[in-house]
Amino acid sequence: MNPWFETVAEAQRRAKKRLPKSVYGALIAGSERGQTIEDNQAAFTELGFAPHVAGPIGERDQSTTVLGQPLSMPVMISPTGVQAVHPDGEVAVARAAAARGIAMALSSFASKPVEEVIAANPSTFFQLYWCGGKDDILARMDRAKKAGAVGLILTLDWSFSHGRDWGSPVIPEKLDLRTMVKFAPQTLARPRWLATYLRSGHIPDLTAPNMAVGGAPAPGFFGAYGEWMGTPAPDWDDVRWICEQWDGPVLLKGVMRVDDARRAVDAGVAGISVSNHGGNNLDGTPAAIRALPVLADAVGGEIEVLLDGGIRRGSDVVKAVALGARAVLIGRAYLWGLAANGQAGVENVLDILRGGIDSALLGLRKTKVTDLTRDDIVVPEGFTRALGVPEGARDTVSA
Ligand SMILES: Cc1cc2nc3c(=O)[nH]c(=O)nc-3n(C[C@H](O)[C@H](O)[C@H](O)COP(=O)(O)O)c2cc1C
Repeated sequence: MNPWFETVAEAQRRAKKRLPKSVYGALIAGSERGQTIEDNQAAFTELGFAPHVAGPIGERDQSTTVLGQPLSMPVMISPTGVQAVHPDGEVAVARAAAARGIAMALSSFASKPVEEVIAANPSTFFQLYWCGGKDDILARMDRAKKAGAVGLILTLDWSFSHGRDWGSPVIPEKLDLRTMVKFAPQTLARPRWLATYLRSGHIPDLTAPNMAVGGAPAPGFFGAYGEWMGTPAPDWDDVRWICEQWDGPVLLKGVMRVDDARRAVDAGVAGISVSNHGGNNLDGTPAAIRALPVLADAVGGEIEVLLDGGIRRGSDVVKAVALGARAVLIGRAYLWGLAANGQAGVENVLDILRGGIDSALLGLRKTKVTDLTRDDIVVPEGFTRALGVPEGARDTVSA
């Protein structure tokens, strides 16, 4: 079979064929009835383009910057904590991102140490959860800073919702002989995935090395998750404290409301990602793209506004940028590519997005991605959601 694929949908089909059922299920993720995960993609299908048939256009330029990092296109890797997709995991993703000139973001729950990932892509942001005591949080930040992380992504939109109507994948606590025998029917049914691991000489590592503090061994994924569940949720003073401690750009990920965005600006963040955690968090939250225009209007003049959730093609990227995002972060799209064909699969996904962005720019007769405006997009009435708009300001919002 030709390892090259032409769409992200095809990468997903290959990932499904290649991965053991539980690993594939962990990437699908989602929560409750899956309303948000569905809306993240469906909302993009409601948006259209307003193309031109002629006009001046030469080479198209997709380059931009995010929090000081140059990007060859308005796309970044979103942090995802899934392990066991591929033996090279986040290092393969970081290499692919570097090869295609975009920035990487590494999850706290990643399977590879931050130092190895930054060696593969110096343009790497470290993603932090509010987990453990302040000393633990500081120790993780210091480690990432020393390793050379160019910015911090603080993800706070998590509600520990664990049920899914379609069933949650069973993920073992750790991989010893007993669990390997238990999971053998699943993994033996996926010989190519197994062979990739056997060739690499190690079995999937279910630890979270970047959650280790003070030279302690890497905790298991579930141990780290338990610590996170037991940590009291942070308030806005804590967000301010993080910004003060980091000494560099902080992006707050998971903002959906204008009042939160305003507080984030006051707390000192340099950017936000309008996001609902890819539909894995509070089900019933609208698609991120529906909240974007109002949030971009509210704070886009003061901080950088990004978006993540539902991006599967270059035209989705163009729609998000035209509606006010400086760039987008992608999650599942690159995970499908990684599962389908390792580093080359992630590069394949990035090339698909680049090609789609280029076609859309050509159709819209825009030379630069930074020239896109709302006039390029057909936004149906009632599409936009204005969440957390203070009373009195509602009349000025086009909802
Ligand atoms: C399997 C999986 C694991 C994730 N883990 C994290 C994580 O550790 N930290 C984080 O900030 N976001 C995490 N996310 C959310 C992504 O960063 C991103 O917000 C989301 O995937 C965007 O939606 P998309 O998958 O439709 O592109 C995860 C998403 C998925 C699918």
